[in-house]
Amino acid sequence: FQPKVLAGRRVLVTAGPTFEAIDPVRGITNLSSGKMGYAVARAAREAGAEVLLISGPTALATPFGVRRIDVQSAQQMHDAVLDHLDGQHVFIAVAAVADWRVVNASDQKLKKQADGAVPELQFAQNPDILATVAARTNLAGFPYCVGFAAESENLVQFGSSKREKKGIPLLVGNIGHNTFGQDDNTIILFDEDGHTVLPRASKLELARQLISEISKRIAKISLL
Ligand code: C5P
Repeated sequence: FQPKVLAGRRVLVTAGPTFEAIDPVRGITNLSSGKMGYAVARAAREAGAEVLLISGPTALATPFGVRRIDVQSAQQMHDAVLDHLDGQHVFIAVAAVADWRVVNASDQKLKKQADGAVPELQFAQNPDILATVAARTNLAGFPYCVGFAAESENLVQFGSSKREKKGIPLLVGNIGHNTFGQDDNTIILFDEDGHTVLPRASKLELARQLISEISKRIAKISLL
């Protein structure tokens, strides 16, 4: 049984990898399974929130009671998030968004060349969805923005500087190497007061703890 600490709240979550097309049958993606983001969406719903999950390609079932919109590319994820941002109280960016997209993607399947010439891919930087949403936070502090970081070294130092750089009140760092695809994780929460470690547990258990931490923080800003 989960207390309904987010009853009446609307929560938007991004999850999974993105897929950046090279041609109609090929693309660039990453090893995100979507498990952490789906666990966060499930935990938010268990806590009574109305949850919208914007997901890159994953093999996961939609959590009970959660509305899901599927996207492929970072640009599509960005557009879907901005289209649904109105009225959201919390935005939790869990997706592993590709930093770059292929600008010269081909409409036709690329063919192997007889002379062995290889395709030359050109890249452009994708929009930072989290930073874009954070820049739109209203004076009351909504949507309350939460980011994830998967740094492998010096997490404590990177965590607090990344939180500031993104302009968000709460950043979740994954400790433990290669949590992609795993069922367990260890996380650190960075906020303006410092950092707190949530010890190793299942992604669902950590997601529930994270939702409880978020609900405490938004209860505080709601009182301001
Ligand atoms: O800068 P970095 O990619 O490490 O930041 C990770 C955080 O930012 C995650 O919360 C991720 O979902 C979000 N992000 C985003 N859009 C991007 C890149 C990252 O929303 N283009």
